[in-house]
Amino acid sequence: RQERTLVLIKPDGVKGNYTDRIKNTILESGFLILRERTQQLNDETAAKFYAEHSSKGFFSSLVKYMTSGPLIAMVLEKDDAVAAWRGLIGPTDAHVAKVTHPNSIRAMCGLNMEENCVHGSDSPQSAEREISFFFEDLSAGESLIRR
Ligand code: CMP
Repeated sequence: RQERTLVLIKPDGVKGNYTDRIKNTILESGFLILRERTQQLNDETAAKFYAEHSSKGFFSSLVKYMTSGPLIAMVLEKDDAVAAWRGLIGPTDAHVAKVTHPNSIRAMCGLNMEENCVHGSDSPQSAEREISFFFEDLSAGESLIRR
């Protein structure tokens, strides 16, 4: 079944010049890139995107990291896109990824538990919410980020 997922190349991935390598992996893996945009989050938009983590100890650090520079948001489409993309990026902690999933994207460009270079939606429901957050034209509701 065709499915969509939201990808972020996080600020560390953009700064480290990993964008082209990540995009090559995306295209070689048979995803269609439906949309792409560069976006600088601020404290408010980052906190809203990560609202589910607002009670966690790492939340303020996460907001600081995600606002530290521009990120690239992309909408990918493919059969089972959510699971396929999560398989490619590997575990959240880049230290773990380097050991258990050495060919994963986070093993290539991630640094640690927080600076893990890329994001992938964790379910089709999250994907639709996250896509509408960045791309107004792909959502029935309202996009938070205005062009
Ligand atoms: P992601 O899974 O894409 O979305 C939540 C992010 O929070 C995660 O990537 C990491 O960047 C960050 N994160 C998750 N767990 C921790 C943690 N224990 N300490 C610091 N950052 C974390």
